[in-house]
Amino acid sequence: MEKQFRSVAQLSDLPPGTCLSIELPEAGIALFNVKGEVFALDNTCPHAGGPLGEGCLTGDLVACPWHGWKFNVRTGACLKNPSPSWQVTRYETRVVNGEVQVLLPISQSSSTTKSLGNEGVGAAHETA
Ligand code: FES
Repeated sequence: MEKQFRSVAQLSDLPPGTCLSIELPEAGIALFNVKGEVFALDNTCPHAGGPLGEGCLTGDLVACPWHGWKFNVRTGACLKNPSPSWQVTRYETRVVNGEVQVLLPISQSSSTTKSLGNEGVGAAHETA
């Protein structure tokens, strides 16, 4: 499947130590800033669907806001159930001109240019 980088957020909306939920028409994306490195996972926790981008980020681990399962944001691995079937999909990221871009499959809805705005962007969450 063909993929392309798409801008999904402004880096200024994702300070180090925070995470962010982004709802796109085709997927929910969780963004994480670990000391300036940006990572992206599928936003849906494999346990019961909690929004990982609204979790608590500590180092490179995010705790799901619903039941606290922890995931490595670099790999998507689940600490509680390390089997690959519980691993969260990881997306490649890059930052270009202050915009966070995520490598996503090209779909009909993503092939049109959209303004970024704040639509679908959740609040950044401070962590300890
Ligand atoms: S929904 Fe994420 S730990 Fe339960």
